[in-house]
Amino acid sequence: MEVRREAGGFSIVVAYLKIGWASLKTGHCTSTALRSALPRARQLCETFRMPMKSSSKAGRGLRKALLVCALLLICIAIGLAAFHRTPWVVPPSGKEMKNPLTVLEVNLKAAKEIYSDQCSNCHGDGGKGDGTDAMMYDPAPSDLTDASKMNKRTDGEIYYQITEGRKPMPSFKKKLTETQRWQLVLFVRSLAAAPGASSTK
Ligand code: HEC
Repeated sequence: MEVRREAGGFSIVVAYLKIGWASLKTGHCTSTALRSALPRARQLCETFRMPMKSSSKAGRGLRKALLVCALLLICIAIGLAAFHRTPWVVPPSGKEMKNPLTVLEVNLKAAKEIYSDQCSNCHGDGGKGDGTDAMMYDPAPSDLTDASKMNKRTDGEIYYQITEGRKPMPSFKKKLTETQRWQLVLFVRSLAAAPGASSTK
């Protein structure tokens, strides 16, 4: 009985460590992780509240150390979640790519159509990240009008982001041609340059 309870406590701590680690890796605590963690946490409290006279000192020490580790990981994960996820880093080869297209009416017009079709449900018509589906996603779709952020990005980076995607944003490598993706780069730039685009944040 005692042994089983102890094994139970141990597996809960391990599960906790896994959740903490998974959250750390993805950079944000998913709600499912949290949801599955809550009942476990209750179980954990119960396990620890019960006096375990028969357990050895060393065993108790180890369990305590593991618990502290697990709690620490969870705190870090929650901290990271608060700051949202890690920045989207684009490899240098992508960063240095140059847009073969120039800002022409025809490119912008084509891009606007693709944008309305493929992007605005998440990023919103004006690019503020307030599309009709935006609420469903964590992290939320980026505000593409945020000039202070978008102006730091090279054309190559934006092209790379559209091409590769990053969950929950899909990859458009297969859905759009290279030209279409470069047209979108021009269009995304025009969103941050538009009057009313937020220049702070
Ligand atoms: C399913 C919703 C969804 C769709 C559709 C979508 N995006 Fe995104 N997009 C996101 C999310 C979420 C992020 C933030 C991802 C992250 O930070 O990890 C993002 C990030 C971006 C970024 C990076 C901005 C930054 O923070 O540096 C660009 C550029 C972008 N999207 C452009 C587009 C374009 C152009 C399209 C259409 C071809 C598109 N997105 C379609 C959800 C979406």
